[in-house]
Amino acid sequence: MKEKYYITTPIYYPSGKWHIGTCYTTVICDAIARFKRMQGMDVFYLTGTDEHGQKLEKVAAENNTPTKEYIDKIVYELQDLWKLLDISHDKFIRTTDEYHKQAVQKIFTKLYEQGDIYKDTYEGKYCTPCESYWTDTQLVDGKCPDCGRPVEIMKEDSYFFRMSKYQDRLIDLLENNPEFLQPATRQKEMINNFLKPGLQDLCVSRTSFQWGVQVPFDTKHVVYVWLDALTNYITALGYGSDNQELFDKYWPCDLHMMGKEIVRFHSIIWPAILMALDLPLPKKLYGHGWLMLGSDKMSKSKGNVVDPVVLSEKYSVDALRYYLLREVPFGQDGSYTNRAFLNRINSDLANDLGNLVSRTTAMVEQYFGGIIPEPTGSTAFDSDLISICEGVYGNVEKYMDKLQVPEALESIWALNKRANKYIDETCPWVLSKDESKRDELATVMYNLCECIRFLATMLQPFLTSSAPKIMEKIGVTDKSLMTFDSIMKFGTMKAGNKVAKGDALFARINVEKEVAELEKIADLCKKEAEAKEQPKEVKKGNKTDEKKAVAENTITFSEIAIEDFMKIDLRVGSVVTAEKVAKADKLLNLTVDLGEGRLRTIVSGIAKWYTPEDIIGKSIVVVANLKPAKLRGIMSEGMILCASDEDDNLSIVAPIKTMKNGSEVR
Ligand code: ME8
Ligand code: MG
Repeated sequence: MKEKYYITTPIYYPSGKWHIGTCYTTVICDAIARFKRMQGMDVFYLTGTDEHGQKLEKVAAENNTPTKEYIDKIVYELQDLWKLLDISHDKFIRTTDEYHKQAVQKIFTKLYEQGDIYKDTYEGKYCTPCESYWTDTQLVDGKCPDCGRPVEIMKEDSYFFRMSKYQDRLIDLLENNPEFLQPATRQKEMINNFLKPGLQDLCVSRTSFQWGVQVPFDTKHVVYVWLDALTNYITALGYGSDNQELFDKYWPCDLHMMGKEIVRFHSIIWPAILMALDLPLPKKLYGHGWLMLGSDKMSKSKGNVVDPVVLSEKYSVDALRYYLLREVPFGQDGSYTNRAFLNRINSDLANDLGNLVSRTTAMVEQYFGGIIPEPTGSTAFDSDLISICEGVYGNVEKYMDKLQVPEALESIWALNKRANKYIDETCPWVLSKDESKRDELATVMYNLCECIRFLATMLQPFLTSSAPKIMEKIGVTDKSLMTFDSIMKFGTMKAGNKVAKGDALFARINVEKEVAELEKIADLCKKEAEAKEQPKEVKKGNKTDEKKAVAENTITFSEIAIEDFMKIDLRVGSVVTAEKVAKADKLLNLTVDLGEGRLRTIVSGIAKWYTPEDIIGKSIVVVANLKPAKLRGIMSEGMILCASDEDDNLSIVAPIKTMKNGSEVR
């Protein structure tokens, strides 16, 4: 029997505009799900939408639309987006689905009857957009620690879930199971920030709004959105219904994937609910980082978004999938820029991959009439190429097992680059001029085509439309030549296929021209969005623009000589530890690795924009030869480069590619 693999994304809030940040979780899970299927596993990939709560009730009312109708439209857009991006989920759950609501009611009643839920009065500080209560110690400057918006004092008669009862088991779970929650930094954060200070019972009902699952025995109350939302992972499998077949087969979950801001709900509240229901716990949670725009998280509610449909339609779905899977070091945040996106397409997709395929097929057409020849000769470069081919699956598998998707792609690209180098080494155009080298030339062509088959096979989970296109170009139609099994041994493909050069896989992009065009589109969208907003806010938007225009016109630069610039020693480093400086709310105390064989202490005034957890592990650029200075009693040995603007935005400056610590910046 096949091994099962159950993988989930969070369920998405249908509010605002879908953007490439929301695609991030789903595309990564899709690649993992497809990879596991190719490994022969019986995969169940779940995604969906989280449709209850006050926020949605409110926006729908503001738009004079019945709530469900308002939500439907946004959910259909999301479903279309997943179709466009070739997402291979097995089920799409909506929390407004009848079976889900009924199961939530059953769960609520069961927990109430067994004493895990009780009724009491609640007063606390509440962030409406995040639908979260926060304790005073969790608030940052009196504001919501997740979104930075003001909180309101709320008082209501509520039902409570006895979380405190599970505190010891939760601490044990997080402390003694390093595999349970990754990356490891999140585990420490959960223990220190939430579990160790003591768990409070969780408020699990609301009376302040109606748009939710009704508490069946007290209909003034609706179920608080996290109990409703998290249970989707089991109700989608039929838990609490007449048919629990899928649940019996796939639960416990093998991987819950989510962004880091909701790790707390998944690693504490969700296991506690499962413990109360006496169900097995998920095997693994992974909290990934954010796609940023400048120094801000790209977010529906902030409206600072990049449209995945525009990018897919202009540059192909695979280009966007590739960017999302490849560009952001997994677990960390990554900044999106149009330029980095377009450069990636040119360098990796058009140059490395596209050129390999088009050069090879063109040569087979030119030298062998388009028929892949028998490898009757040999060259000095064959064995290296072959051994890298035969190792590629192992490397990718190793990284995929650790959920290091960018590294998995990197090892596919190592083969891609090796194949391009093989062309340069063997110089087929020279061999072709010498009739006595015909056998060598045949081998070079065969080896390249076979190597391309290895690449296309490995690329299937990631580039879902390019991989089959590549197979077509080298004439492979036999499905058994597209499996992982078929790329364990080099030479499995028979000679004799007909190649077809056809169109380029990825067109080369004129980056400057496209950057300008994308900016124009973004501007138009922004104007459109502003026009839709309240008059008050339109005014505010214009004012900011005026402010910016004025600022831009008044920037002056004072010149320095190149020798002066050369005096500054800028180095790439990575942040190893970070903590707030006591009684100095602007400062973070960092230790930084500049590849010197020791760690430096650097005090930096970035605490307003970055939490320690945001930057640990991050690449940064440091002024390495700054004279050390004492700040708040701490000797600081350098300065971190940051960009800032008139609107009080600040971003740490970092290399776009992964660079070794100690690399020079100039
Ligand atoms: O949190 N970069 O829904 P959601 C990376 N309904 N990932 C991002 C992102 C960005 N800029 N913006 C959003 C919810 N995401 C709840 C979940 S689960 C029981 C309930 C990711 O629509 C985000 O981190 O706000 C999360 O994983 C997913 O999109 C859905 O976020
Ligand atoms: Mg969110």
